[in-house]
Amino acid sequence: MALRGSIGRLLSQKFLFGKHLQYARGISSQNSFQFVDVEEKICSPAERHPKPDLATLGFGKHFTDHMLEIPWHIESGWGKPLISPIHDFKFHPAAKVFHYAIELFEGMKAYRGDDGCLRMFRPDRNMARMLKTATRSSLPTFDPEEMIKCLKRLIQIDRDWIPNSDTSSLYIRPTFIATDPSLGVASTNQALLYAILSPVGPYFSSGLAPVSLLADPKYVRAWPGGCGAMKMGSNYAPTINIQKEAERRGHQQVLWLYGDDHQLTEVGTMNIFIFLINKEGERELITPPLNGLILPGVTRLSLLELAKEWKEFKVVEREINMAELTELYEEDRLLEIFGAGTACVVCPVGSISYMDREFKIPQAESSLSERFRKVMGDIHYGRLSHPWAVKID
Ligand code: COI
Repeated sequence: MALRGSIGRLLSQKFLFGKHLQYARGISSQNSFQFVDVEEKICSPAERHPKPDLATLGFGKHFTDHMLEIPWHIESGWGKPLISPIHDFKFHPAAKVFHYAIELFEGMKAYRGDDGCLRMFRPDRNMARMLKTATRSSLPTFDPEEMIKCLKRLIQIDRDWIPNSDTSSLYIRPTFIATDPSLGVASTNQALLYAILSPVGPYFSSGLAPVSLLADPKYVRAWPGGCGAMKMGSNYAPTINIQKEAERRGHQQVLWLYGDDHQLTEVGTMNIFIFLINKEGERELITPPLNGLILPGVTRLSLLELAKEWKEFKVVEREINMAELTELYEEDRLLEIFGAGTACVVCPVGSISYMDREFKIPQAESSLSERFRKVMGDIHYGRLSHPWAVKID
């Protein structure tokens, strides 16, 4: 570790590469930080925080004792990863993240299995998406394997925070921000990649109860050529006011529509699935395609892959609009609607309010959403051995 550290320091000296370092970065290990360089500053027992009560966990309110930080600078490239006690940041008020929202994040989870083993769910998928978002944000990329190793180490250090319950998990929030203190609308010269961990219970305070949706076509979440397929904070900020409007109008979440034909795109912060009987009388599961408006969710992908493996009904990625949904509803061909995402896993939809009309979505006794929830839970908690569940220790 020490040897690699000093070589890294030497390589990053300006006198060796000067301004050509940027070009060298494309072909050398300067492209990425390395797990072997991780430095650890572990809390003393007195510095550790008390663990929250399982019953009051909620979502994202509690944080573990440590965090991961990896600095990047245009001239010296990636610095060494540091795991240290969780702490506040100090940044210049001109830091680009505060002005132009040069920020991105990921949401992933680790679970304590029924067998006591810790597992992460498909971390490679989150890292692939993070790198795509980094490129779109003009932030530097890194070796995803090295980041996964750093995250695993952080989780190992704070392993006691992972709840011993199959309704809870450890939410992992890797975040990447532009910290350059300058107001030019340009790519950043410095950035910070970090990760924090939060033990979580159910995402919605209503638990697993079906949610009611407001679908108001005057609001859109994403548009062609935009960044709706990226996991950037700037996609979420403008949705909060609309979410509040949905709540004011008596609903729990927003159904995001797009276009003159009011295509269904996403629900709240989740991907949307519609289970129906098609005109040929066959059962069909539909989710909107990855056309740039849709976040390529890891849960979305997993449900599609599971359903295709089952071969029990048609599985189709295609656009679906409110006129078709109305027809399905009126012809009793709508079986279920549900949302899917890392935070909630699978969430049934109970009703949709659209243009003065209220659609009561059917709730089957043994529903597809419940079946998905169970299989995903079996994979998450190690009851079903599966390559998607990556062991941590
Ligand atoms: C997810 O469910 O994947 C999310 O990203 C939700 C998060 C924004 C709270």
